[in-house]
Parts: sequence; structure tokens; C-alpha cells
Amino acid sequence: MVVKKYYIETYGCQMNVADSELVAGLLNRQNYRLTDSSAEADIILVNTCSVRQNAEQRALARLAQFKHYKEQNPELILGLIGCVAQRDRGNLIKEKQFIDLVLGPDTYRQLPDILKKNQLPQIDVRLSREETYQDLLPFRQTQVNAWVSIMRGCNKFCSFCIVPYVRGRERSRPVDSIINEIRQAVSAGFQEITLLGQNVNSYQYHEFRFPELLKAVADIKGVKRIRFTSPHPEDVDDQMLLVMSESENICHHIHLPLQAGSADVLRRMNRGYAPEKYLDLVQKIRKYLPDCAISTDIIVGFPGETDEDFNQTLYIMDRVIFDNAFMFKYSVRPGTKAAKMKNDVTNDEKAERLNQVIMKQKEHTLIRNQALIGSRQLVLIDGLSKKNKQEVIGRTDSNKQVVIKAGSAQIGDFVNVEIIDAAGVSLFGIIH
Ligand code: 5AD
Ligand code: SF4
Repeated sequence: MVVKKYYIETYGCQMNVADSELVAGLLNRQNYRLTDSSAEADIILVNTCSVRQNAEQRALARLAQFKHYKEQNPELILGLIGCVAQRDRGNLIKEKQFIDLVLGPDTYRQLPDILKKNQLPQIDVRLSREETYQDLLPFRQTQVNAWVSIMRGCNKFCSFCIVPYVRGRERSRPVDSIINEIRQAVSAGFQEITLLGQNVNSYQYHEFRFPELLKAVADIKGVKRIRFTSPHPEDVDDQMLLVMSESENICHHIHLPLQAGSADVLRRMNRGYAPEKYLDLVQKIRKYLPDCAISTDIIVGFPGETDEDFNQTLYIMDRVIFDNAFMFKYSVRPGTKAAKMKNDVTNDEKAERLNQVIMKQKEHTLIRNQALIGSRQLVLIDGLSKKNKQEVIGRTDSNKQVVIKAGSAQIGDFVNVEIIDAAGVSLFGIIH
């Protein structure tokens, strides 16, 4: 039988990266092999993100670029998968005749069958209340860290966010299936496991909530490092922090999306917490885990955000001094509650506010990183430096990137590093 080649390009969050690995796992079971060259592929899949308009446009532009391959090879199958596929339903197939396949995040299982029966063009964007892909083994494309999805979907309905509409309702994967997948990843040599979910700490499978799952994962023999992303502040509890403080292999880093600092904006965002509650939570994290790094997501220019509201975001940033932050201009997502609000912050104002939070965060990242100069850190090497062949890149327990003179250190090694400098988002160290 002729082996066919597939190429996948992935946009967006880590969930999408993990989903692409699932799709690859599905295709590998059939007569398909992954290629890293789109030019020689028989199937090209673009796994898309719809969280902001520019992410969506980037992925669609990429798909349009692949159109010319199709002109050279009419047999080529071009597929749009993931969140944009879900949001757009079948419109793109109708509009852009060169797309053969549109699959949403809950219908990847159909892919081998569709290809086998050659039922093209095909659209399947049904959302499921059950699908967790629990029994499918991903084909991992990483060496050190294994992404493991533990839940899918979201029930929070933050008013700005498209995720509940494109990824459907929350559902958690059975504990046994998670544990089995992690055991396999460990025996395949992965040093680090990252538990993934749109709201990772809303995990609940029968009586197993997130803290119990974390503990069970920490107890698996051979798991060196455990991370998770992203938790929702509302669902962080003492139990989760206690498990983190008692388990040596759970990393001391929490990504805790703040989104905004004004009580008013947070209410209209439907975030479920007031700024004071967020600050209390940060304090609680520091009580359990004094050395815990905290990173965040911030949106500027949400509908109705006044200068005063925006200053509250700067105020919270000053109070917390985040280790790192992802910062965005608010982007209208059709169909969400916020899309019905008046998008009254001008693009220039958004750009100005974004610039201000970025500048502040740069200072804070540097403050946090400089505080580590002179310290010893256990670093897991996960890549080679692109700039300098003599250097390798690794991460501290607190998820900070460290650039190190390689010596004999190799990808996958844990090394003891003395931090000697900090610049930008990186630390620099030497091996001891
Ligand atoms: N506009 C801008 N940023 C958004 N995010 C989610 N939806 C939007 C939107 N409509 C950001 C949030 C979230 C991160 C993954 O993306 O900060 O935490
Ligand atoms: Fe979106 Fe809010 Fe759900 Fe996060 S918690 S995925 S921001 S709706």
C-alpha cells in the first residue's frame, strides 16, 4: 500500500498543540506518515485558533497560501481544523472552493474514516458533551515535555471569550486514562508532564477533583516535573496549593489569568472575582509556596474600560509584580456577550494601553529575574540555542528560560545552574 504523507500546522494555545498530536496519532494508525514539508504532503491540515481576530486571520491566510499546491496537485487534500473551523461551520468550504475538509475540535475521530472512504468535501463541526479522546494515544512531537489533556471545553462564559462556543461544554477525562498516558510518556523518556485544559483546575471526574488528580500524577513513579495550564482563579483552592507544596515534582509556577484590574470591568467580563479577591489569592499562593512564580494574561480596552479602570490594571500589576504576562488588545468575537457591548475604546487607545502594560511587565520580569542572580537553580534542558551553538536552553522549576554554556549538557538533562545574569525574559547561567 502506498504510504501517504500529511503535514499539520498548528496555531493558538497548547490545547491545539496537543490536539494536533492527537490527530497525528490517529493518522499514524492508518497508512499515513507525518512530514515537515508542506510541499511534499498529500494532506495539509491547518489547526486554527479563533481567540482573537488576528489569530484567525493568520491561520486563514496560511490556508490560502496552500491553495497553489492544490493547483499543482488536484489530489491534495486541504483541511481546516480546530476552533476557526468550529466557528465558521461550513461557510469556508462554500466560499473557498479549494478547502476539502472542515473539522471542529470534537470530531477528529472522523478523520481516518473520511479519508478512507474519500468522502470529500466534508464538514463535521458537531460539538460533543462526552468526547475527551481518552483512548487515543497522541503522536508527540516534543522531546522533553509531554502535553496531556485532562479536560476539554469551558463553562465559564467570560463575556469576551469565544472558547465556550467553539470548544463546547466542560468534560473531564477519566483518571485511569490520564494516568496510563502519563505512565507511557514516562517510559518513553519524557521528563516533564504538562496537564492541559481550558480550565485545568475545574477538572472533576466522579469524586476526583483537580487536587486529587494532581496528587495521583505526582505519585506516578518516574515523573520528574509536573506543570499545568491554565487554572482559573475562581477554582484555585487550599487543597490544590497544599498538594503543590507537599509534592516535590510539581513545579512552583502558576499561570493565573487576571484579565483586568477594575472591579467594574471584571464584573462585565463575568470573571467571577473582584480585584481584592485576586490579590488575596496571590497572597495565599505565596503563603503555601513562597517561591512560586506567578504569570498572567491581561486584556486592555475591554468595552467601557475608562482610564481609571485601566489604571486599576496597572495598580494590580504593581501589587503582584508578575513574573511574566501575555498581554492583548481586546478583540471583538462575534456571538459573545461582550460583542453586544459598545466597543468604545479606540484602537489607538488600546495600542497605548497595551504599550503601557508591556513596558511595566518588562520592568517586573526583570525585577523578578534579577532577584535570582547568584542563586542555584535546577534546570531541565529542552532546546539548543538558535543564536549560539555553544549554548543550550532550559527551564527552571518556576518556568523561567535559562541560557547556559552547553559543556556536555544535552536535551533532557537536569543540570545544577548558577544564575549569573538576567536580560529580557531570559536568565543566563553556568553549570556547577
Ligand atoms: N480579546 C483579547 N484577548 C482575549 N483572550 C481571550 N479572548 C480574548 C478576546 N476576545 C485572552 C485572555 C485569555 C487568553 C488565552 O486570551 O487573556 O486568558
Ligand atoms: Fe475563555 Fe473564560 Fe473559559 Fe478561559 S475561563 S476559556 S477566558 S471563557
